[in-house]
Amino acid sequence: MSLRFIALEGPDGAGKSVQAALLVNALRARGIPLTFTREPGGTRLGEQVREVVLNPGPTPRSGEADALLFHAARAQNVRENIRPALARGELVVTDRFLWSSRAYQGYGSGVPLHLLDALEDLSCGETRPGLAILVDVPIEVGLERRNRGEQAQMTRFEDLSRHDADFHQRVRDGYLEMAAADPDRWLVIDGDRPVDAIAPDVLEAALRFLADSEPNAADLRMSEQTALR
Ligand code: TYD
Repeated sequence: MSLRFIALEGPDGAGKSVQAALLVNALRARGIPLTFTREPGGTRLGEQVREVVLNPGPTPRSGEADALLFHAARAQNVRENIRPALARGELVVTDRFLWSSRAYQGYGSGVPLHLLDALEDLSCGETRPGLAILVDVPIEVGLERRNRGEQAQMTRFEDLSRHDADFHQRVRDGYLEMAAADPDRWLVIDGDRPVDAIAPDVLEAALRFLADSEPNAADLRMSEQTALR
């Protein structure tokens, strides 16, 4: 049975972080106990890693170094936040998880995927989201949003000298490939729409997933669908 654990994933400028916040608010408003984390972050180590990746030095970091940094933060987040929350019976929602490392460091920067498999085993073990929502946008849209300064939080990791349009295309294609390869886990949502149009789709997917992972699935789904209207 899959864990009550949901990840939002997506390329830069997809609006994923905004959607994660809206989803968390909507679920909390329904009285669903949940823990929200973002990656990298959520722990002291994670926030320190965030500082490191936010402040690149004069030479670009390698994909391998990034993979280790992000997975170090993830290992800590899993142990400090995610597993305890799941053990308390809470839903966990995370803004990015291991698929960000596969998309960015793997597909984007060329770190071999089988090496990332090993890092995932180390950092996450079996603690993996049962639902992964890909907020997908064409790279032109994502990069345009980023360049317009929308969702400024989403752009700060950018190292433009290293992350060119080809990089972002590989990231997006990687996400779509991962989603297509594991359709039971993934839902792809069209992020090239206004925020208010996307949010109900994200919420509905989360509620459906929760209903399916509850013992009294049918009842909960009925009541939640009523609440959605
Ligand atoms: P952030 O400011 O959190 O923005 P977003 O809202 O897009 O998540 O930046 C996260 C950046 O870090 C984003 O460009 C992707 C990158 N990243 C990786 O490259 N690998 C990872 O494992 C994670 C978690 C993030």
